[in-house]
Amino acid sequence: MSKDLQLDTIKEKCEQCKKCNLYKTKTNTVFGTGSGNAEVMFVGEAPGEKEDLSGIPFVGAAGKLLDKYLEFAGIPRDSVYIANILKCRPPKNRDPLPEEEDACIDFLREQLSVIKPKVIVCLGRISAMRIIKPDFKITAEHGKWFKKGAYKIMAVYHPAALLRDPRKKEDMAEDFLKIAAELSENDD
Ligand code: URA
Repeated sequence: MSKDLQLDTIKEKCEQCKKCNLYKTKTNTVFGTGSGNAEVMFVGEAPGEKEDLSGIPFVGAAGKLLDKYLEFAGIPRDSVYIANILKCRPPKNRDPLPEEEDACIDFLREQLSVIKPKVIVCLGRISAMRIIKPDFKITAEHGKWFKKGAYKIMAVYHPAALLRDPRKKEDMAEDFLKIAAELSENDD
């Protein structure tokens, strides 16, 4: 079965999920978008309002900024898969609860085991704390590479943090250039 078909099967399972209470308040499940053959997987925190309404991750203001950095670093859209730790929106965009993350994380594991990206990029602190280490410090440790099994992992600021604090934009640009360099190195 192709990777895209395998992802469709996991998506169908995810859409039926009732392992935590978020299915009661969601409009749509936001499973993830992109190619099953993506080299890099970006992982955010949880869907916001626009994502909940559309079923697509990072379509709101933060997503537009993410698109800008991908373009700036010359990372083609078709080399990218985008997902979140949580597939359903927490009411009023509150932080995910630990039990919600625990209930949902297997879907991300399954996405990773199908896609097998070379690189994982955590978008923001919450994703980095779950994927890299629980005491991850985004200000001190964004832009650094971590190795876990076959994956090279980096966390960058959440794009929404740049909307609140534009001084972070320079760091974000540098981090995206590092990601692009790593991807082109892997092409050799
Ligand atoms: N913020 C996230 O972490 N994920 C989205 O999909 C949208 C906004």
